[in-house]
Amino acid sequence: MKKLLLGLLVLTQFVGQANSQSIPLYKDSNVVIEKRVDDLLSKMTLDEMISMISGLGFSTVPNDRLGIPSLVMVDGHAGPCVGNSTSFATAITMAATWNPELIYQIGKAFAEETRAKNDNTLLAPNINLHRTPQAGRNSETFGEDPFLIGKMASAYIKGLQDNGVLATVKHFACNNQETNRSFIDVNVDERTLNEIYLPGFKTAIQEGGALAVMCSYNRVNGQYTSDCKYLLSDILKNKWDFKGMVMSDWGAVHSTIPAFYSGLDLEMPKGEYFTKSNILPLMENPIYKEQLRDKVRRILRTMYNIGIMDNKNPFLSKYDTIKQAQLSLQNSREGIVLLKNSNSILPFDSHKIKSLAVIGPMSKAPDIRGVLSSHAVNTYQGIKEMFGESVNVTQSLGCNIKDDGILINKDNFKSEDGKPGFVMEYFDNQELEGIPKISKCVDQISFSWSIFPPLPEIKTDKYSIRIKGTLTAPETGYYNFYLIMAFSNMRFYLEGKTLYDKWAGQGAWTKGIDSVYLKKGVPMSCVLEYKSNAQSYNLFSFLWKFLEQNPLQKAVALAKKSDAVVVCVGFSGALENEEHDRSVSLDPAQEELIKEISKVNKNIVVVMNSGSAVVMNNWVDKVPGIIEQWHPGQEGGTALAEILFGKVNPSGKLPVTFMKRWEDSPAFDYYPGKDGVVEYKEGINVGYRYFDRPSSPHAQFTFGYGLSYTTFEISNLKLSANSILITDTLHLNVLIKNTGKMDGAEVVQLYIGQDKCSVDRPIKELKAFHKIFLKVGEEKTIQFTIKPNDLKFYDVISHDWKAEPGTFTAFIGTSSMDIKQKIGFELK
Ligand code: BGC
Repeated sequence: MKKLLLGLLVLTQFVGQANSQSIPLYKDSNVVIEKRVDDLLSKMTLDEMISMISGLGFSTVPNDRLGIPSLVMVDGHAGPCVGNSTSFATAITMAATWNPELIYQIGKAFAEETRAKNDNTLLAPNINLHRTPQAGRNSETFGEDPFLIGKMASAYIKGLQDNGVLATVKHFACNNQETNRSFIDVNVDERTLNEIYLPGFKTAIQEGGALAVMCSYNRVNGQYTSDCKYLLSDILKNKWDFKGMVMSDWGAVHSTIPAFYSGLDLEMPKGEYFTKSNILPLMENPIYKEQLRDKVRRILRTMYNIGIMDNKNPFLSKYDTIKQAQLSLQNSREGIVLLKNSNSILPFDSHKIKSLAVIGPMSKAPDIRGVLSSHAVNTYQGIKEMFGESVNVTQSLGCNIKDDGILINKDNFKSEDGKPGFVMEYFDNQELEGIPKISKCVDQISFSWSIFPPLPEIKTDKYSIRIKGTLTAPETGYYNFYLIMAFSNMRFYLEGKTLYDKWAGQGAWTKGIDSVYLKKGVPMSCVLEYKSNAQSYNLFSFLWKFLEQNPLQKAVALAKKSDAVVVCVGFSGALENEEHDRSVSLDPAQEELIKEISKVNKNIVVVMNSGSAVVMNNWVDKVPGIIEQWHPGQEGGTALAEILFGKVNPSGKLPVTFMKRWEDSPAFDYYPGKDGVVEYKEGINVGYRYFDRPSSPHAQFTFGYGLSYTTFEISNLKLSANSILITDTLHLNVLIKNTGKMDGAEVVQLYIGQDKCSVDRPIKELKAFHKIFLKVGEEKTIQFTIKPNDLKFYDVISHDWKAEPGTFTAFIGTSSMDIKQKIGFELK
């Protein structure tokens, strides 16, 4: 036996040696990651290391000699926005579901779609907190509460990273507005920063396990975040023990040494400061040399952890589009928040309502954001498809708003040869020189080529395209045109007239050309020219929009003769998006539309498409029904129809407070700042933390609020003890019963407040929630756990979280204002 064991030992040693001789340590997937990273680092030259700390468009620089692949990145808070993907609802809709399990599934779906696009890194989630409703990117994020943000972001990140795609938590930190975002200096005190703006990030890293962080454009307390050692090293890497990598936002680096020293690991999208000529001289200093190794170590460690080094999760050739569409639908359903339902106007009774007018600028354009999806159901379609011929569903625009228009297709465009469609001539140079390398006819111009050549025949990323033909309008009147080019260059001529010409320097993301008068059936000669942006994304779309005449009169006439009206209003992509903030209320034309329709039809339900709260005081009392639908993605129309007619019971809850007037906002005096500085002087009084206070104005709709078609009763609140030591955990039980007439889900919310404290604290703060589905008459007990961490505030003296002994109250509610049960306990 001994002999046999000895023999085995010798044999395993021999196999081990043979193994280590044939594959280097860093390639051996049986070796622990840190050892593999060390081994790989030891084999890299300085030049190779330097090349890894700046990007190559939307990827990191690969290393063929050592077999290091690239992180290949794609944006996409509503699904990867490259090529044709499933369009999901935006993050605010996800937050409104209060259902982390669902969001995990969506993260998983995003991972599959990302891999199917040959990418391995999603530049999401965006988890900046809603400080004001105006911020242009609010819809990409999870609302006003750090706890809710942290939970939703963690689910999303796990869904992505468990399935082989790196998540990038962004934008670190305080990117809470788009106005002046590239230089605005956020002045925020230490407690507010740590208690309000950072905890979402901390949870995303410590609970969600995010391995990449993107810093923001703005400054915090005087420093660009890419230069800010306090944020990137002291807090993120040291205090929170973050082991992953920090990349910059696109073009957000402003220095070499401060950025290098601060803890920034990767400059994106290319090295302007982290160039070889800037970094190499620093390598004389051993501190900088070690910092370079640390940066590369973090990038490699991230690649190993996600499985990219071992190609564990290869790119996919396909995914289940039907399953993804179902998930997108479920997200839209669960995210819908029923805000007002006077006299139970909803659900509509399809036996009584025989004619339904779907009116408004958002009624016919599917509300999809950032993702090109070949299938999308708008509200009108969704309702019409539900009823077939049994209900007379009609549609009217109601008013013109600024939007992105619809794709021009081959019905209205002929090529030079007189055939319908767009003949695209591709040149393998950027100046349309010589004869085209290849020509292709397409039905519409809608492309997202990212950093890759547009066709296999074009071997370079430096190309240009020309399209010539005739455009024919289907109606006489004014049209707006939209060119989407993602900062590439374009020229656009109509009947020899130049409508757009930006052939050098940085182009616009989207260019809108307003009010061009066209006559029905008259062909106009048209030329479009496109020059690739070799450094960044390439998107190319050509859209237009007919500006309807007298839309209000037409809509009012239709509303008059209908049994009920659904008015679809909100913020189109042109009104609410990256790079600019939006208005706090609807634009006047849409408010007028609601008012005028409400005068002629009392059965009116307003459906709002927005990425955050909207001030509604000009019309809220004039309508019996209001639904917040956020930006629901490709299945929005179907989800809404199901809710309107009671096929699905609404269960969404507000992730943000809806205030009555902008003047009521705690940030009213400070937003959007002046002279390049925005003071966060409202401090920790953000959202419900402010509106909860007895001295504050009443909110229109409170955080956590949302109606259902059924009723729930909450009772039997019990705590496992009435006092807690700092080392203890308390258990809280509560019974919930569906006491109404329809199956449905409720979100039970636990808030905790300290009755008296040496510092000013919010009345209460969200510490746990549970979404539960109950059939009619069904009841269940929910258990929450209260831990000492839930009782702490950020103490600026110790620069740490602190729990102060005293009495606390646990509040159980169905919104921050609808508190159903409460109970006191003591921290000893
Ligand atoms: C945005 C980022 C985005 C990056 C790449 C920046 O302008 O702020 O969120 O990931 O562009 O598209």
